[in-house]
Amino acid sequence: MKRIVILISGRGSNMEAIVRARAAEQWPAEIAAVISNRPDAAGLAFAQSHGIATAVVDHKVFGPGQSGREAFDAELQRVIDGFAPDLVVLAGFMRILTPAFTAHYADRMLNIHPSLLPAFTGLHTHQRAIGMGCKFAGATVHFVTAELDHGAIVAQAVVPVLPGDDEAALSARVLKLEHRMYPSAVRWFVSGQLALESGRVRQLAGESQSFS
Ligand code: GRF
Repeated sequence: MKRIVILISGRGSNMEAIVRARAAEQWPAEIAAVISNRPDAAGLAFAQSHGIATAVVDHKVFGPGQSGREAFDAELQRVIDGFAPDLVVLAGFMRILTPAFTAHYADRMLNIHPSLLPAFTGLHTHQRAIGMGCKFAGATVHFVTAELDHGAIVAQAVVPVLPGDDEAALSARVLKLEHRMYPSAVRWFVSGQLALESGRVRQLAGESQSFS
């Protein structure tokens, strides 16, 4: 049984999709904990109501600057490791992570980012895609490295950008695919179906790594 720890900051709809898929598809894995950096994250209630352990590591108590960031990451790492995870899943976890933290979870931490990486790293991805006149947008699941929104790509989902789209319409269209893609990527990891070859990720059972 692999152990998964999921980190959230808010709504937690991707976390919810993963929790539901794990139960429905009977993965060889359990959700060991859901951890938030915000005490008011809506997703915590869902996790608790499904009997999943939850924890909060509130970044605000660690103060500003690099030392605050390092202290927060050290405490977060201590709490995560208390649940002995095989995989850490960032699901709408809105924190920039220190290199020591990302190194500690190298090759065992996934993130979902709402753009077709390497385009649009950072925030406000959908707004920026609309503003650039992009005809397609999407989301990417990738392994986490020290560089923000980089790391080997596990899966991508693509949707059209339609005339008249605003940020809400586009993000809703992308989110639907995120909820299919991210559970698949996590299932692949816990089933030992991902191989990292020359910096690229291959799905060993031949399942498609592209979603549309
Ligand atoms: C998603 O769009 C995800 O791609 C991004 O933040 C959003 C999180 O949504 N990283 P949720 O908290 O999973 O509902």
